[in-house]
Amino acid sequence: MKRRATCQAREAPPGGRGAGRDRVAALVADPGLPLDRRAEEIRRMFAGVAGRYDLLNRLLSASLDRVWRRRAAEALDLPPGARVLDLCSGTGDQAVALRRRGARVVAADFCLPMLARSRGKFARQAPPRPRAFAADALRLPWRGASFDGAVVSFGLRNVADLDRALAELARVLRPGGRLAVLEFALPRRQPLRSLYLFYFRLLLPAIGRWVSRHGSAYTYLPASVSDFPQRETFLERLGAAGFDRSSWRDLSGGILCLYLARRRPEP
Ligand SMILES: C[S@@+](CC[C@H](N)C(=O)[O-])C[C@H]1O[C@@H](n2cnc3c(N)ncnc32)[C@H](O)[C@@H]1O
Repeated sequence: MKRRATCQAREAPPGGRGAGRDRVAALVADPGLPLDRRAEEIRRMFAGVAGRYDLLNRLLSASLDRVWRRRAAEALDLPPGARVLDLCSGTGDQAVALRRRGARVVAADFCLPMLARSRGKFARQAPPRPRAFAADALRLPWRGASFDGAVVSFGLRNVADLDRALAELARVLRPGGRLAVLEFALPRRQPLRSLYLFYFRLLLPAIGRWVSRHGSAYTYLPASVSDFPQRETFLERLGAAGFDRSSWRDLSGGILCLYLARRRPEP
């Protein structure tokens, strides 16, 4: 699926006084970037940044990413020994946070270079260690009702078909099973919103490009966040996919949201 966000940046005046300032303002308002969510493109993009993904997470979030993943694991609120799926598991940090809460974790991602980075982390955990599987969120290789809980951190924004991924999550969760989704959002309040947009759409892509040496992955990030359904809109998608008792909570001033939901019990 290839989409192009509205391209206000290209409408900035080409020269003259204030042109630079207008261009920056236009970029902050809307980066106007191509958004390519075809599976092959996504896989290739994450393969390209896998080696520096953890470093960039720490750098770009000032190490808050660890706190956020811990919050998601806590919010699931499942008893020790619960079977939990970490979908779009990447380099495994969310799976480790879940394991530390006592869960039996299955980590799944379709990008092998990202999964490979989780192997060493999983080997250092107390048994039962998280297990990593290559799997596509749109066609999960597990029978229905296989898990007590599931977490997706910073993953759903990247899948080619959000509703299908949510339906797959609902299928593999047992009725009454719990889902936690951690995803970036845009702060609702000023002046944080404007400050954040400046950082997120201008500074972050520049730092990301420099450290990852990947041309587009960190410009894709703000574009994909702007394009993702946020807060109430995302809850509606959860409801349509078979979840109830859903809620959202802003973290860190609303630069990300923690969504919680329950797999609707059978009637
Ligand atoms: C931004 S990373 C998040 C990784 C990890 N959850 C974290 O908290 O750091 C997104 C991950 O989603 C994975 N992904 C995207 N689409 C996927 C799909 N259809 N099936 C499985 N994994 C997918 C990518 O390979 C990538 O590792």
